[in-house]
Amino acid sequence: MHDRASATLPRLLAISGSIRRESNCTAVLRSLQALLPDSASVELFALDEIPLYNADLDGATPPPAVVKLKQAISQADGLVLCSPEYNYGMPGVLKNAIDWASRPGFASPLKGKPALVITASPGTSGGVRAQAQIRDALAATLARPVVRQHVAIANVAAQIRDGRLVHEPTLDFVKAALHDLLDEIALLSGAARRSGRAE
Ligand SMILES: Cc1cc2nc3c(=O)[nH]c(=O)nc-3n(C[C@H](O)[C@H](O)[C@H](O)COP(=O)(O)O)c2cc1C
Repeated sequence: MHDRASATLPRLLAISGSIRRESNCTAVLRSLQALLPDSASVELFALDEIPLYNADLDGATPPPAVVKLKQAISQADGLVLCSPEYNYGMPGVLKNAIDWASRPGFASPLKGKPALVITASPGTSGGVRAQAQIRDALAATLARPVVRQHVAIANVAAQIRDGRLVHEPTLDFVKAALHDLLDEIALLSGAARRSGRAE
């Protein structure tokens, strides 16, 4: 399933659904490394340079930013997405990135990739209305959205200081969700080893 054997050193790729400089969602993702065990790492991938999906560009030489995104997904053991809700749904920026990464259909780097979905909003809903859309789009690519209580961070702007999430109860909740993701990665890599599919 993985492009790299890393059952003991999971590498996570964090993708924000907002490309705004002061994005709360990106701030949440910047806070993850401190919540992970030493054995795990997380890297942020910014979607700023991903063009709008165009199948005409999705041939032998896709746009360089798309190549980088797909490589980063391939090399990761799991994904953490944190996204705002725009008009009760997933921002186009995130959907567009999932569309690029989803090709070739059902055989893309997203196939089999465990993905923790976090939403966040300065409002009271925590962006929860985008959760189903994000999970559905991931499921369409054969990625594996982690099945757990939704992580929807309400009132997020008040929980950020100096570009990091600082609200302890929310950090605890996010940490538990990250551990669920790591458990899912371990479960899947164990299953792949037992079936002889691991590298
Ligand atoms: C086009 C647009 C639509 C939005 N729609 C919603 C919405 O439906 N629900 C919500 O809670 N916030 C909504 N917001 C507010 C965003 O949650 C808020 O701007 C948030 O901070 C964006 O995430 P970021 O800080 O990571 O950039 C909307 C913002 C924009 C720009």
